[in-house]
Amino acid sequence: MSLVATAAPGELRVPRSGPWNQRLLAGPKLGGPEPLADHASRLGGGITGWTERAGAHQLLERVRRSGLGGRGGGGFPTADKLAAVRRHGPGSVVVVNGSETEPAAGKDDLLLRIRPHLVLDGLLVATRILGARRAFLVAHSAQAVAAVEAALRERPDVSIPVEVVRGPANFVGGEESALIRWLEGGQALPRYQPPRVVDRGWRGLPTLVQNVETLAHLGLVVRLGPEWFRGAGVADEPGTMLVTLSGAVEAPGVYEVPIGTPLPEVLYVARAEPGAVALLVGGYFGSWLRASEVQGLALSRSSLRPAGATPGAGVLHLLPQGTCGLRESGRILAWLAAQGARQCGPCAFGLPAMASALNEVADTGSEAALGQLERWGDQIEGRGACRHPDGAVNLARSAASAFPDELRRHRSGACSGPRQSALPLPLGRDQG
Ligand SMILES: Cc1cc2nc3c(=O)[nH]c(=O)nc-3n(C[C@H](O)[C@H](O)[C@H](O)COP(=O)(O)O)c2cc1C
Ligand code: SF4
Repeated sequence: MSLVATAAPGELRVPRSGPWNQRLLAGPKLGGPEPLADHASRLGGGITGWTERAGAHQLLERVRRSGLGGRGGGGFPTADKLAAVRRHGPGSVVVVNGSETEPAAGKDDLLLRIRPHLVLDGLLVATRILGARRAFLVAHSAQAVAAVEAALRERPDVSIPVEVVRGPANFVGGEESALIRWLEGGQALPRYQPPRVVDRGWRGLPTLVQNVETLAHLGLVVRLGPEWFRGAGVADEPGTMLVTLSGAVEAPGVYEVPIGTPLPEVLYVARAEPGAVALLVGGYFGSWLRASEVQGLALSRSSLRPAGATPGAGVLHLLPQGTCGLRESGRILAWLAAQGARQCGPCAFGLPAMASALNEVADTGSEAALGQLERWGDQIEGRGACRHPDGAVNLARSAASAFPDELRRHRSGACSGPRQSALPLPLGRDQG
């Protein structure tokens, strides 16, 4: 079954409604950062006036009424996180998380490179709500660092010190407690929480860690209001989200999509190859959806939950025809196992063992290896200091159940396809 509807008369199930209204990516398509003057004239002036007219409490109420949720993967309500830091009083720290350590993601880096002022607007709002004393902005690429540094030179209104740094390269380095350790000069390794970083983060100070995209939305919420924000998306998950689409699509890249958009519509707009067999939703911690499942699902937590999936940080990868989903998952799992910080048992022993079991399943379809995979998944889940092992277990479980045809073929010595997918794995990158 094809993942995208064909255009045969009477069979068209994919509305031709894209491209969708853009918010973060609105404005001219730029090769580089949008200058402050253009940003301000496009959005009706600077943000400072907005933050001065409303007090910190009213700003926070605006965020709460907007229903904005984090775009770094967990979807945690942004107003609740701001309130948790704010209750400690002034003097906290803000960390803008643009480390984007997942290889198939690219949205945060894009935002920082072309719309740095949108992110700085959000940072300014967050620091005003909190009375923060300093901030860090962690970017993935050298180009993003340069774009933000240039943008900051245009922003005297950002009056607290903001240190712009290139983030750690290891996968778990993007996790909030790892990032904070790394900003303190340590290794980018997660720690057990509590204490939560909102209570004791950078150098023991209450710290807000917020994804780049979340802050970009925050700036627009304050300018344009919660009702405007709720004009896109679904009631319990309002707004748009950035999606990084790769794999069997003619037009890969970053798309801004209203939450709740049917997945087939997203794939149609990106010109998906008709023979594609499965969609990885939510990136390397994510879940595989078979063609038959994709047809009825939308890009939202509530729609994906019954299928055991989540949009995560918006990474979608369409598996091309002739590619074996089991082998691809085995490859990712082995990489995730190598990326674990190995400070906790599940990472040190569990993930490498699960990766070899999944690769054995991919090679031979072995029932015994499949059983081990299930048992080890149950033993590992929830036992790490961070969600890294849980994410890896989720991918392994999803692979084991999403490709029954491949399993059967492997048991009889055949493989569904030798073609390797475009799922990038940056082997040999520096560790934090
Ligand atoms: C292993 C791991 C890696 C993560 N990597 C990132 C990342 O690269 N960027 C990011 O914003 N959040 C990442 N997160 C989530 C952060 O810990 C944190 O929840 C997020 O930055 C909060 O921002 P938000 O509330 O705006 O989503 C990661 C979490 C885990 C467990
Ligand atoms: S679970 Fe793994 S990645 Fe997370 S803290 Fe423990 S060793 Fe590190």
